Amino acid sequence: MRTETAGGVRLEDYQPAPYTIDRVDLNIRLAPKATRVSARLAIRRGDNTAPGTALVLDGDDLKLTGLLLDGSALTFQDYEASPNRLEIPAPPSEPFVLEISTELDPDANTKLMGLYRSQGTYCTQCEAQGFRRITYFLDRPDVLAVYSTRIEARKGEAPVLLGNGNLIETGDVAGTDRHFAIWHDPHPKPSYLFALVAGDLARVPGEFTTASGREVELGIYVEHGNEDQCGWAMDSLKRSMRWDEKAFGREYDLDVFNIVAVSDFNMGAMENKGLNIFNDKYILADPDTATDQDYANIEAVIAHEYFHNWTGNRITCRDWFQLCLKEGLTVFRDQEFSADERSRPVKRISDVRLLKSHQFPEDAGPLAHPVRPRFYQEINNFYTATVYEKGAEVVRMIKTLLGEQAFRAGMDLFFERHDGGATTVEAFLDCFRDASNEDLDQFALWYEQAGTPTITVKSDYDSKAKVFTLSFSQSVPPTPRQADKKPMTIPVRFALVGEDGSDLAYETVSGVEVKGDVLKLQAPEHKVTISGVNERPIPSLLRGFSAPVILESDISEEDYLHLAARDGDPFNRWQALQTVALSSLTAGMEAARDGAAIEVDGLLVHALGTVAEDESLDPAFRALALQLPAEADIAREIGSDVDPDAVAAARNHLRRTIAREKGASFARLYESLEIDGPYSPDAASAGVRALRNTLLEYLAHSGADGDAERVRDHFAKADNMTDRLAGLTQLVHARLEGAEDALAAYYERHSTHPLAIDKWLTVQATDGHPEALEKVRALTAHPAFSFANPNRLRALVGAFATGNQTQFNRADGAGFDFVADTVLALDEKNPQVAARLLSAFRSWRALEATRRKLAENALRRVAEKADLSRDVKDIAERSLQ
Ligand code: PHE
Ligand code: ZN
Repeated sequence: MRTETAGGVRLEDYQPAPYTIDRVDLNIRLAPKATRVSARLAIRRGDNTAPGTALVLDGDDLKLTGLLLDGSALTFQDYEASPNRLEIPAPPSEPFVLEISTELDPDANTKLMGLYRSQGTYCTQCEAQGFRRITYFLDRPDVLAVYSTRIEARKGEAPVLLGNGNLIETGDVAGTDRHFAIWHDPHPKPSYLFALVAGDLARVPGEFTTASGREVELGIYVEHGNEDQCGWAMDSLKRSMRWDEKAFGREYDLDVFNIVAVSDFNMGAMENKGLNIFNDKYILADPDTATDQDYANIEAVIAHEYFHNWTGNRITCRDWFQLCLKEGLTVFRDQEFSADERSRPVKRISDVRLLKSHQFPEDAGPLAHPVRPRFYQEINNFYTATVYEKGAEVVRMIKTLLGEQAFRAGMDLFFERHDGGATTVEAFLDCFRDASNEDLDQFALWYEQAGTPTITVKSDYDSKAKVFTLSFSQSVPPTPRQADKKPMTIPVRFALVGEDGSDLAYETVSGVEVKGDVLKLQAPEHKVTISGVNERPIPSLLRGFSAPVILESDISEEDYLHLAARDGDPFNRWQALQTVALSSLTAGMEAARDGAAIEVDGLLVHALGTVAEDESLDPAFRALALQLPAEADIAREIGSDVDPDAVAAARNHLRRTIAREKGASFARLYESLEIDGPYSPDAASAGVRALRNTLLEYLAHSGADGDAERVRDHFAKADNMTDRLAGLTQLVHARLEGAEDALAAYYERHSTHPLAIDKWLTVQATDGHPEALEKVRALTAHPAFSFANPNRLRALVGAFATGNQTQFNRADGAGFDFVADTVLALDEKNPQVAARLLSAFRSWRALEATRRKLAENALRRVAEKADLSRDVKDIAERSLQ
């Protein structure tokens, strides 16, 4: 498979590589502007490759300085080289060794792909196609080799030298100020898992003994001075290692496991074999600078990267179309880990919130694509919410359909069959088929068909016959390149809820296949008849969000509020409140748009008040239940012709009304929730803070003088970042007196901590006031901001584009223009991050006509610029299609 054809890459064109590379011996002599790389590749012709077939290696921006084949120099006729490609037209038919020398300039590498420097530390990023920026290679995930890496650097510049696998040898280079280390990784791996790090870093040590008694040395490497911010990451790592042994029977397989935190990183983190490299925001935490959410994210990302050791590394992907095979599965695994470590229902609600706010809009717009795409122009653009989060939902549905035991048996089979291999989604599904005898042919459409299915349900109760019927229909919307859709397998977990809130008994269910409490919808329509139902039930459908679908039902608001108060499934209690709030907000938006008075639903306000006060419920759950759907969620619900100002008006009105009516009781509750004693990031205390800070948001909007004072106090007295940031956010977003002073005080306190400054940038970027754009523009010139650092850029411009609905979507188009200009300026430096920023336009077609036109103009301006990167060009063109 040649990956760089002008027309993009197609799954159906997959061909195994004509040559295999069994061993890679690297010698990397580091220098900031001239790093010399020598790669000795042991190459073998594939079984089905005719002798004399050309060998074509991938390159990207490479400078070739030497080439030997079996020790002899090649003449001009024997090869063809360009920065992007090295071809040997007639290689030997017997195994041979190719020794390639290249010279790199890490300091000039602003793309942060391949070898670059972050704050003076040399580091690499090779997924998906960064290894070809280090040497010429068959840079594809189905070419697995054993790597040895010799790393050499100036001792003073890089006392720490890290590679994949186990450390074999270290020493000085005689007569120089340089030293070296040799690392050997015995596990064959694809090139995208290669990594090295060299720099002056501090090491935080740890140890772990695996279930079978292997002693593993753990190390977290950070910039000097940050050692005391690694405790939570280390603790999370140990818990992840233990959990994978218990939950999936998977042990660690090397003597060392190292993690390095770097401050310039395009993504969250990377699972390189034995040497994970992290964006420092997913490592560093202390109570003064990290929020509860940061702690939870660190735990999840540490687990995610660690779990890749089995799902991704030991078993890897055959080609990049199979990305969800490692990512969807590994997200599912990290979600389950966090659910076990924290509160399962709260974790599920948070995950579904994320899915609905990120993946559903993606699936509803021009960038929609299947969980396993069949075509791409640029693979970097497919590290998406669909591949990750919807990919995880698909694995979760397999578990729902098969049950716990058969699911585990299928996973065991997957590890048994494919360990050491590079495989596909089909092979993964085969393991579950073989372990369960379940027919998964129709289910496999979840990997093929883009778009969020809608299921519509009508219900009817016949009190005489004691029969309850549910009439389901399903549809999947058309998406780019997929006009027509087939019906899917949709597992609907359900119960019939009675007057007292308990699950009602019933006798038989007909009209659909049922397994336990799961209805397996497969046809376009099902009339499901349930007999022996002794009272009028309220159906609780899609419990635990058993499928990633949109549910439209004829359940009345009153019945939803009954579920909100009494459903035995906490997820559906939360969902019921959201459903009612969304329909009320949609109606409010229409009124606002038409200039009419917005009516507030008294029953909803009452229900929210009741949940807030219900001490039998987990505070974390109450916090989630009290949070109104975000503006973007309301916009998604409306779907077309969206006026973001009207949406914000409706939401603000509802929030203000709740705050006024419930202010006194919320204030009392707020006061009662103060935590004494030192900060602890555990889920229970985080839940109390979450509830208290959610109440604070209402108090900030109650209009009562005492409440504004409370918010100021909250900020001033906060002894941890969670509370301080909540206070700051409310002061700024509610435009309370003291907001400017608070911003200044916060800056003063945290000016030397970039990750804390990111939060300061984000608070200002997400202020819905019309001044926000000018502020954001001004902040791009602030000394704390850096265009070259992805975290700073995301915290300011990224947060503005995705977290400030009214100002990004301004009616004068200035928000679109600002983001488009930023994308264009950034594209020359870092196309991957630029493309990601541009995807903030993904819902532009759902806007009302004036804004739609302005967004389109901005997108066209980007698309038409000459010399655009493939990354940005791909997003711009697909957004416009
Ligand atoms: N594979 C990484 C993960 O999800 C994400 C990543 C992709 C990081 C590409 C860097 C580059 O765990
Ligand atoms: Zn991953």
